[in-house]
Amino acid sequence: MKILGIETSCDETAAAVVQDGKKVIASTVSSSEAIHKKYGGIVPEVAARKQAEYMIPVISEVMDGISLIEIDAIAVTEGPGLVGSLLIGVETAKSLAYAWNKPIIPVNHLIAHLYAPLAEGVEFEFPVLGLIVSGGHSELVLMNSHTDFKLLGETRDDAAGECFDKCARSIGLPYPGGPEIAELAGKFEGRSNLKFPRPLKENDTLDFSFSGLKSAFAREAKKNTNKKALAYELQEAIVEVLVEKTDAAFVKTGAKMIVVGGGVSANSRLREVFDEKFEKIAVFPSPSLSTDNAVVIATRAHYSDRKVSWRDISPNPALSFS
Ligand code: KG4
Ligand code: ZN
Repeated sequence: MKILGIETSCDETAAAVVQDGKKVIASTVSSSEAIHKKYGGIVPEVAARKQAEYMIPVISEVMDGISLIEIDAIAVTEGPGLVGSLLIGVETAKSLAYAWNKPIIPVNHLIAHLYAPLAEGVEFEFPVLGLIVSGGHSELVLMNSHTDFKLLGETRDDAAGECFDKCARSIGLPYPGGPEIAELAGKFEGRSNLKFPRPLKENDTLDFSFSGLKSAFAREAKKNTNKKALAYELQEAIVEVLVEKTDAAFVKTGAKMIVVGGGVSANSRLREVFDEKFEKIAVFPSPSLSTDNAVVIATRAHYSDRKVSWRDISPNPALSFS
């Protein structure tokens, strides 16, 4: 079974063809990130305009050499994400489904992030504890099966990626700030007397909160010019909260496996600390599948029990778990 996946929830325009939920036949990601860099964040109208421009070429590229008969369904991100961006992907999927007479599999972008390892030879052993850490979301979810998800905790304010991005911006680094902070942090040597708060770390809740950390960082950055130390300490604080909350959820749920997904999962310090704490229990995608792509959409779709007609799907920017 081959599925064509389409992803346009943020600034990427991506398509992929994945066979049987595990074999990547083709994948392309086209990003407008460079255009947004100078604005310090995503400009939604610009992202959507670029997606309208890139969508058809990206699909043509992944479909090159594949005949329509081979495609069993079209998977598309229905949410969460930017409404204009989601609209481009969903309308494209609807048009193709109508013209090609194929079903559509609507996919939740956040859940899809957790499916990246399946496209790289990993198999889930349920129950799986998922940590989703992206630009707009920080969530802990328990997956009892491919169709049974339970939200255990989420951010009460900023997401982990958002905290990286906003703190980077406050010290003059371009968007996206996560990789910039990670790079600066890697250059820090020695010790600093600085220690940022670890919000909600000791608390019983499995929720996250990163806005207090962001404010503490901004206050410190006004008087401290050592950007490497600031970046290092910020990364340590975010990573520590993520690992501790995941550990608490792991103990509470008795999950057999931990899967980390979303853009922040590309962070090498996060990977290092998870490896130390959980050894082989925690699985990360390779960095190219950590950030937004359509491989995860087509992979997730294979395991979904939803199939709809082109008439029955519309973008849902605030989509929660489904
Ligand atoms: O999942 P993603 O590509 O897009 C969304 O769905 O939001 O995540 C983007 C987020 C951004 O906040 C970006 O700064 C962060 O992932 N990110 C990183 C790294 N690479 C991307 N954060 C920390 N370290 C990284 N290496
Ligand atoms: Zn994402």
